[in-house]
Amino acid sequence: MATRKGKSTSASKTVQKEAAEVPKPPRGYSTDAFLMYGRQKTRHWDYQHHVVPPLSASSTFRLESHQRGEAGFCGFADPELTRPTKPHIFIYERLDEPVRAMLEERLAAAEGAEMGVCFASGMAAISAAVAHRLKAGDEVVAHPTLYGCTYSLFTNWLPRYGVKVRYQDLTQAPSRLRIGKKTRIVYCETPANPTLQIVDMEAIAARIAKANEGRSQEEKCEFVVDNTFATPACQRPLEHGVDVVCGSLTKGLSGFGTDMGGYVATSESDESSLLVFRKDFGSPLSPTPAWRILNFGLPTLSLRVKQAQASAFELADYLHEHPKVARVQYPGHPASKGYETARRQMHDFHGEFAPGTLIYFEVKGRNDKEAAARADQLVDTIGKKAYVITLAVSLGQIRTLIERPGGMTHSMLPEEVAQTCGIGAGGVRLAVGIENPDDIRRDLEKALKSLD
Ligand SMILES: Cc1ncc(COP(=O)(O)O)c(C=O)c1O
Repeated sequence: MATRKGKSTSASKTVQKEAAEVPKPPRGYSTDAFLMYGRQKTRHWDYQHHVVPPLSASSTFRLESHQRGEAGFCGFADPELTRPTKPHIFIYERLDEPVRAMLEERLAAAEGAEMGVCFASGMAAISAAVAHRLKAGDEVVAHPTLYGCTYSLFTNWLPRYGVKVRYQDLTQAPSRLRIGKKTRIVYCETPANPTLQIVDMEAIAARIAKANEGRSQEEKCEFVVDNTFATPACQRPLEHGVDVVCGSLTKGLSGFGTDMGGYVATSESDESSLLVFRKDFGSPLSPTPAWRILNFGLPTLSLRVKQAQASAFELADYLHEHPKVARVQYPGHPASKGYETARRQMHDFHGEFAPGTLIYFEVKGRNDKEAAARADQLVDTIGKKAYVITLAVSLGQIRTLIERPGGMTHSMLPEEVAQTCGIGAGGVRLAVGIENPDDIRRDLEKALKSLD
């Protein structure tokens, strides 16, 4: 899917394609170091004399000649060329832009991917990750527990374009996963929003690999995983046989609740198609949020996750023992479903178990109606009286946030789908921040007490 249709210019012919490689830190240095320093000079940018790379905001770029403009357009997203061209030619912000490009390289390194492409939001990234590959007649198989807007995208929009979406529980034995001739994508979140179900990525990837035997590249089925909840600081799906990772930058990766964005990280063979899709559907990440995520979000990612995760361990134990709580799901708690799989696939950049910063729990009630009313009362008490827990959707930021998925983020799910997803009437999602865990517990205790 090149930008030029069979048109070959002398400018493009002079550029040689190079083998793709995963961007990574210099030998012996950690991924954390790369997330802070990246590369100061590439063919794409030269910020060797800056400590903090500048916020280069320019919606269009100066061209000293029409030849430069032509070469830039011809080089953009051309699968026969390697991005960046030599030297890289910037044309227009929606096509390519240096701050966003720096962020893309660091995200690729974080996920262990050959390349990354950033979008205006997590939903823009998810839409691109699936839609750039699909055509009418294709099928997507998705695990039903999904972020509400992803569920809406799959249920309300993809079918309009002739794409069939079939839901199948991917936490069941992989042998039960049906991959038909037209199945092009198997999609899931793990941990899944909001119930933190864990999908065994290696097992599903092995099942897909078997189904792909003998298929042409076009016919192959890809495994796409939304890594928003874990972030690459806790899990790198590509290490477990996943083909494409996508997710929101709005959450843990930006970390401070100030910016919106999304990303796709995968192999270089998908780069051209994703860039052209982003150009034509018009969903690039703007340089200002990209700059903040680059300079504030990524360098502090591991530190923030470490602090919030240590609190999440403690708070999961506390909630587990609490008499007013019926059920707790935290991938780091041995009593939680999927714990063994989480132990295998969720690790930080240094190999330590990293089950993340989110907890799902259900408030007790004699029946669903009472459980729902008590969960409402709990979050309302927090909304009115808590000091460090905020009643708000979103997650992964420095502040602890709480919400009731059944009535908020997942309210668009039909009742029976919510049940299949395991979203209980009394379900509450707690996104742990970096506050002192005693302060978070204090607010939870007060709110749970109010349920008498
Ligand atoms: C798992 C998951 N994926 C994707 C998104 C969408 O991200 P954004 O709000 O940046 O579009 C969200 C948002 O909450 C999410 O929870």
